[in-house]
Amino acid sequence: MVQPYKHEPFTDFSIEENRQAYLKALETVEGYLGQDYDLVIGGEKITTEDKIVSYNPANTAQVIGRVSKANKDLAEKAMQAAVEAFKTWKKTKPEVRADVLFKAATMIRRRKDEFSALLTKEAGKSWREADVEVAEGIDFLEYYGRQMLSLKNGVPVNSRPDEYNRYDYIPLGVGIIISPWNFPFAIMAGTTVAAIVSGNTVLLKPASTTPIVAAKFVEVMEVAGLPKGVLNFVPGNGSEVGDYLVDHKDTRFVSFTGSREVGLRIFERSSKLNEGQIWMKRLIAEMGGKDTIVVDSEADLELAAQSIMASSFGFSGQKCSACSRAVIVEDVYDQVLNRVVELTNQLTIGDPVDNSNYTGPVIDNNAFNKIMEYIEIGKQEGKLMAGGEGDNSKGYFIKPTIIADLDPKARIMQEEIFGPVVGFTKAKDFDEAIEIANNTEYGLTGAVITTNRAHMEQAREDFHVGNLYFNRGCTGAIVGYQPFGGFNMSGTDSKAGGPDYLLLHMQAKTTSEMY
Ligand code: SER
Repeated sequence: MVQPYKHEPFTDFSIEENRQAYLKALETVEGYLGQDYDLVIGGEKITTEDKIVSYNPANTAQVIGRVSKANKDLAEKAMQAAVEAFKTWKKTKPEVRADVLFKAATMIRRRKDEFSALLTKEAGKSWREADVEVAEGIDFLEYYGRQMLSLKNGVPVNSRPDEYNRYDYIPLGVGIIISPWNFPFAIMAGTTVAAIVSGNTVLLKPASTTPIVAAKFVEVMEVAGLPKGVLNFVPGNGSEVGDYLVDHKDTRFVSFTGSREVGLRIFERSSKLNEGQIWMKRLIAEMGGKDTIVVDSEADLELAAQSIMASSFGFSGQKCSACSRAVIVEDVYDQVLNRVVELTNQLTIGDPVDNSNYTGPVIDNNAFNKIMEYIEIGKQEGKLMAGGEGDNSKGYFIKPTIIADLDPKARIMQEEIFGPVVGFTKAKDFDEAIEIANNTEYGLTGAVITTNRAHMEQAREDFHVGNLYFNRGCTGAIVGYQPFGGFNMSGTDSKAGGPDYLLLHMQAKTTSEMY
């Protein structure tokens, strides 16, 4: 009997035993740094000369590992393996498919600290952020497994006398999973297993900055009993392997999480028919955000300041859900701003292996340079209140940065920075605050801090974001509790961790029999 779904608890690192376990897990990970990982195509491990090297962003001299790199020929081979495996996997019972996910969840739960420690090393996540992410990955496995069980008999439809009608969901075919570096375990695993448990076969192309945790996950899925060819592991360049697979006539759908720019490129390419293609490809895209926390004049201002600080600077702001704009009603603007500055100045930045550091590095040198450029723009557009400095001599560290007194249309208030930078702007009243909150092209997350019930209801209706939170921060959606995905340029609003998510990977078939 499958137990009802409950989300995976987070680890309490104030308990000495848990701290020791994490330190031990860091040692375990240290013990296998620098190893090589293969491609996996049709169950076959393939080594290439050409490698993608994964570095520790907190200490760039340290190599996390090296993965073989697919080219077009290998991508084609993987596509053929996935096409072949689909013939049997689509007929494998949903219970058997779900079971693989449940087993993998158990195996990862046993190695939870090790997976988290690997995220600390490979993605620069603090212990807490890494632990929350691994919990989220386990949640996806547990939740989607159960969702598949609830969908396996389709949904009831009416039948007239002498008629037997059914409405069933069948899989789509081969999917291309292109996953991001900012949740290199949870989103990579979640998007992969949602496709697989629905009966599809996939080619997984992980982000090139964080491929090792993906390789470790692929190993687990194999041990958990996934047949050969169902999950093919093909790290490679976006412009070579990514484009080739998105364009491929046998690709039935693409599940992408990443930037707006790449998402739109995939949207365009996947809409073109290629020779021999007999379907319109489906696209599931989770892209960026420019997420706002609105603070009302009637509000718990300490809660407001804490929420802005944590949502802006947790994992150095590198979440599509991160707060990058604080819109404050003018009566309380100075008070909230000053308190966030105070809290921010207390934050410690450094190598996340040391749990006393609040936040670690940004992911790579490109990100470092881009964020530092935005900070310069911010200094011109507004007033620098905290941070503003970076140091990339050893790792890519940027101080949590606050830019105040911005025009709502300033670049800092409109463009996704994806780093530890938050802009503040003043609104004359709550109506104007919601108007400003809605004035970007994105619509992913948002939060409103208020004690005014009427304002809460107004925001519920008018604040146009996929995930709206009241009296808390705007990050940290939990699978099965706060299904996650956004509007407009934030993507296709494919709510990850929600009751409709698997259906995006399936098509409905009506059968009607007379007897
Ligand atoms: N789901 C994550 C969050 O809510 C972001 O991807 O923070």
